[in-house]
Amino acid sequence: MALRVREKIKKDVDELVQKTGKRPGLAVIIVGEDPASQVYVRNKAKGCEEVGFHSEVYRLPEAAQMEELLALVHKLNEDENIHGILCQLPLPKHLDETEVILAIDPNKDVDAFHPVNTGKIMIGNYSFLPCTPAGVMELIASTGVEIAGKECVVVGRSNIVGKPQAMLLLQKNGTVTICHSKTKNLAETTKRADILVVAVGRANFITGDMIKEGAIVIDVGINRNEEGKLVGDVHFDSAEKVASYITPVPGGVGPMTITMLLKNTLTAAQQQIK
Ligand code: GUN
Repeated sequence: MALRVREKIKKDVDELVQKTGKRPGLAVIIVGEDPASQVYVRNKAKGCEEVGFHSEVYRLPEAAQMEELLALVHKLNEDENIHGILCQLPLPKHLDETEVILAIDPNKDVDAFHPVNTGKIMIGNYSFLPCTPAGVMELIASTGVEIAGKECVVVGRSNIVGKPQAMLLLQKNGTVTICHSKTKNLAETTKRADILVVAVGRANFITGDMIKEGAIVIDVGINRNEEGKLVGDVHFDSAEKVASYITPVPGGVGPMTITMLLKNTLTAAQQQIK
């Protein structure tokens, strides 16, 4: 699926370049040495290259200060060759993520993390959808199963995934429940789900006995288990026995997330290039 969407993006990029002589540009900022972030940023840059975007990666040292980071964001806000700006999270503890997100021009905020964009999602009038929830929606759509009227359970309430995911499912007229670390009788709720989206960041947290027969199960987690192997938040082997559809980890939601980032960057470029 991710490949199919990327091919379409590549075609649209070629068209845009032919028409305007301008190429979509994405700037990615990474601060420090977090190993997972390094991998994500590398994959984002690779994705850009594949679809014909111009991309720039800015690597700041762990000890970077807010002034330097904000100055970079302001410079990129003004740069006509850059249509999308993304600051990889998490930032080192001494830096203020909220302030950095607020500094990004909402028109270039291809993560859709700026309050202007999160607010637009809330009222259903948006240019960008946050990448991971948008990828999840495409995966659900690919099953052909109608969301309207279904019991949708989102496990996790992060600003990046859980909260916007719940909003998108609600917009499609799902009956949405959000579960989190304080939820009582979690299995009772997850077992009601026709569509279950899990984004908690705990290896094998949801097991087959917590899933309704025939449910669609989308696993957003990427964790390392005791053997150092990449696993999701859902225990795949037990879950696949009851689910009608289930995403693997790795290779499920991850590639879709980056594809949605590319889609947002193309949209941003189309809006900014006159
Ligand atoms: N860290 C984990 N997921 C994301 C994401 O989608 N965007 C950014 N900027 N940082 C992240």
